[in-house]
Amino acid sequence: MKAISDKMKNGLNRQITAEFESAYLYLDMANCLEDRNFSGMARWFRLQADEEKRHALKINDYMLERGLVPELGEITAPRHQWSDEVALLEEAYHHECHVSNMIYDLVAQAMEDKDFASVSFLQWFVDEQVEEEEHSLKWLEKARLFGGNAAGLMILDGKMGKRTPEEQKS
Ligand code: FEO
Repeated sequence: MKAISDKMKNGLNRQITAEFESAYLYLDMANCLEDRNFSGMARWFRLQADEEKRHALKINDYMLERGLVPELGEITAPRHQWSDEVALLEEAYHHECHVSNMIYDLVAQAMEDKDFASVSFLQWFVDEQVEEEEHSLKWLEKARLFGGNAAGLMILDGKMGKRTPEEQKS
């Protein structure tokens, strides 16, 4: 099989870090929400943090399969500053868009390298990001609809709290 290029290897390393940073960010959001007594939203983000760790490990294991030893990067601490729940959900949505762009860059690199094994591997992440953006945008739009209204946010809290480890995020 064609060897993975240095650019691709560096990109995969960066993606592992980004996925762990996502987990870190969502755990921080979960903690913040729990502190504000939004336990349902906190549950959703806690489960999302678990999912992001699985994403990181999926890439880690792919690199091992391809004969590479992943180089784990430094994880940036979350800002931990959200004025309200809408601002928090906005950051979550924009973060997912950022991660999608990173995945697209990896696919572009794999195609440039004619590394079709990596193109195939990354397709799972392309599909996953469609779902991740969709769900985070859906929660954000609902929160905006409630416009900071406490009763509305409590309804949203109940809906987000129904998430189970196995299911998708709606
Ligand atoms: Fe693994 Fe939410 O990106």
